[in-house]
Amino acid sequence: MIKHLKVVETEAQKAKLFLEDCNALNDDFLPIKKAGFVLWPLNFEVKGEIVVCEGLSSNRLSRDYRLKLPLELRNIAPRAFDIFGSMAIIKINDEIMDFSDIISKTLLASNPNIDRVALDMGVKGEFRIRKLVMIQGDSNFIGLHKENGLKLKLDVSKVYFSPRLAMERKRIVDYAVKGESILDAFAGASPFSVGLAKKGCTVTSIDSNPEAEKWSHENFKLNNIKKENYEFINSKIEDVIQDLGVYDRIIMNNPTNPLPYLEDLSSLLKPNGFIHLYKIVEKDEGFKVANYLKSGFKSVSERVVHPYSPQSSMMAFDITRAVSNVRNTNQ
Ligand SMILES: C[S@@+](CC[C@H](N)C(=O)[O-])C[C@H]1O[C@@H](n2cnc3c(N)ncnc32)[C@H](O)[C@@H]1O
Repeated sequence: MIKHLKVVETEAQKAKLFLEDCNALNDDFLPIKKAGFVLWPLNFEVKGEIVVCEGLSSNRLSRDYRLKLPLELRNIAPRAFDIFGSMAIIKINDEIMDFSDIISKTLLASNPNIDRVALDMGVKGEFRIRKLVMIQGDSNFIGLHKENGLKLKLDVSKVYFSPRLAMERKRIVDYAVKGESILDAFAGASPFSVGLAKKGCTVTSIDSNPEAEKWSHENFKLNNIKKENYEFINSKIEDVIQDLGVYDRIIMNNPTNPLPYLEDLSSLLKPNGFIHLYKIVEKDEGFKVANYLKSGFKSVSERVVHPYSPQSSMMAFDITRAVSNVRNTNQ
């Protein structure tokens, strides 16, 4: 018997993306369709309506490449890896680095949509650039990634990008309203901005990495965003903050270091607007975003976006600026 997540058919694709994103989708079984509902097979229980029933065994080979590895490697090779365009990006720890060749060759052979495998050596520095070493296929880190109906092209060794944020970016685009003005303060190659501009918002995207500017322009163009709906500023946010306007929505996706910027960026938020702040939070830290908010601001929702390390998670905080209820009695 297998646990399944039951969702209405119209929400099935959204649920699938979410389950894939958090590795909860069990590839060994097929989805079951029943009277307007879809049951997605699970690796572990998630929030939502859970139905326990016989799984529909997949006749295809499992997408878990580890089943094709020699027995002694199956349980120590990494199960999870990211896919950016047609490139797999995998972390292999030092203890099993000697087996990186067989692991990456097996991964390549098991997935027809992958033509390169890059070893992920971690993200560093102000630009959050990922150090990558290509271990299978051409040493070319440029890829065309498809996400939420958008095309995103970039060199993943020169500008930050994480395919794991696809669901979060969709959540923000769904949340936003056409016509809003948006500040994407740490934009990278502009995956948030492009989605929001496509929805009909006007975006100002800022990033200090010159490669972010190059790929952002490419992405606005690729997705047919009109020039009047976006601008990109290649600068540190703190150097241009005095020249910026006010916004309905501000995205602060600099999760390793967002707090030094929160106070100044808060002053650019319109009444009733939202800041979406991302932060890596240690599990035993007892972090409370309220301790960092100016008066008149409150966090209305917080959620774990994805695990970051065994001890920490990336969290999203939706912060609003409430309109004062105090009446001006002089009027
Ligand atoms: C985690 S990445 C987020 C990129 C993008 N929002 C995304 O979802 O792919 C953080 C970005 O902030 C940029 N950055 C870091 N410090 C900055 C600063 N002080 N001002 C402007 N950009 C900054 C980095 O270059 C990097 O591209």
